[in-house]
Amino acid sequence: MDKVGIGILGAGSIAHYHAPAVGKTANARLVAICDPDRKRAGQVAEQYGAEKIYTSLDEMLRDPAVEGVVVCTPNFMHREHAEVCAKAGRGVLCEKPISITLDEALSMQKAADEAGVPLRTGFNQRFLNQVKLAKFAIEQGVIGEIHAFRSVFSGKWNNYFDETNFRYLPEQSGGTTINDNLVHRYDMIRHLLDDDFESVVADLHHSVIPPVVDDNVHMIVRTRKGARGTFAADRFSSVIADSTDIYGTKGSIHLVTNAVSPFHAVPLAINTTVAPEELPKRLTGAVYPFAKARANPAWTGWMSFWPEFNDAYAEQVSEFADALRGRQATHVGATGIDGIRSQELIQAAYDSQIDSCWISLPLTQGTPYRMPSYS
Ligand SMILES: NC(=O)c1ccc[n+]([C@@H]2O[C@H](COP(=O)([O-])OP(=O)(O)OC[C@H]3O[C@@H](n4cnc5c(N)ncnc54)[C@H](O)[C@@H]3O)[C@@H](O)[C@H]2O)c1
Repeated sequence: MDKVGIGILGAGSIAHYHAPAVGKTANARLVAICDPDRKRAGQVAEQYGAEKIYTSLDEMLRDPAVEGVVVCTPNFMHREHAEVCAKAGRGVLCEKPISITLDEALSMQKAADEAGVPLRTGFNQRFLNQVKLAKFAIEQGVIGEIHAFRSVFSGKWNNYFDETNFRYLPEQSGGTTINDNLVHRYDMIRHLLDDDFESVVADLHHSVIPPVVDDNVHMIVRTRKGARGTFAADRFSSVIADSTDIYGTKGSIHLVTNAVSPFHAVPLAINTTVAPEELPKRLTGAVYPFAKARANPAWTGWMSFWPEFNDAYAEQVSEFADALRGRQATHVGATGIDGIRSQELIQAAYDSQIDSCWISLPLTQGTPYRMPSYS
């Protein structure tokens, strides 16, 4: 197959996920790694077999073999890097969060549209097998009409290393817990519910960790279709919670993405009042141990799923490569618009914190960006 040439911009921690992922695809090849830190770029290139290294984006974009760029730089650089790539005719898969402000994200989308190139947001969790299965179950009506959800993401602040420490510098990250962790969850809810946020009220706090940033975050949201839900995350506890629960009129879903803890016994559990014989075949084929559950005369409605672990980064970059060739993949990744919608929620949550009230969405372009301070 004709392989699309991919360049990775930024050779920090997340490059160690993207670079090997490219090599696992059938339709993309790793052409170059670019980082002003030549040593770091060289290490990633050597470890994952990139053909070339560059120390500036302009230099990498002069290479015609680089057809699309995965932007893996700190958040405050995303806008500039994505726009420079778009202007050079390159599509962009931009790591999350797409930007710091809503206006930056809108400007990135405009640049991509004007250049006629795809813009993707790095919400890799959409590609996990258990997420795909949960989406399928919802679409098939297995849990009925959705009215409520809860999503949590807890993790200790120093569990995760980065090369530049940008996460704990608010002007470089745009926030710590609210956007670094929870941004995956805003997208997950929008994706699974096929819905958008209508309003938000937030309580954002610094409680514990040495950097004075948001490490204790709680948000209540309402969606356009009328569901209510909460997002909660902290950066001081050990990883005990990494789950999304969705409640419908015919059942509920418990979905886990990363952490393995006694609280999360299975990656995906579905409870339904739909009779076993009426469940879609794809679910009954995937469930373990479904046969046993069926045999149980007291069918409880619970099904536990252990889908095979898949490399979400590889599927994500493969879909990006298809988009660069104008091909529609079977599973569409998060677009620039999806990145924008999550960014908007973060900015509205900041307004809610500062003004102590509910904030309605969507925000209009030009809404001033205000970041709360914590003491
Ligand atoms: N999808 C996920 O779950 C996930 C996980 C981790 C990080 N990320 C995202 O990836 C991005 C990077 O995070 P990280 O942890 O890898 O950061 P990091 O600090 O480890 O790496 C950033 C790299 O960018 C390089 N850089 C700085 N300026 C540059 C420039 N002008 N051109 C090219 N490279 C430059 C730095 O030298 C560094 O090597 C962030 O947006 C982060 O939110 C996403």
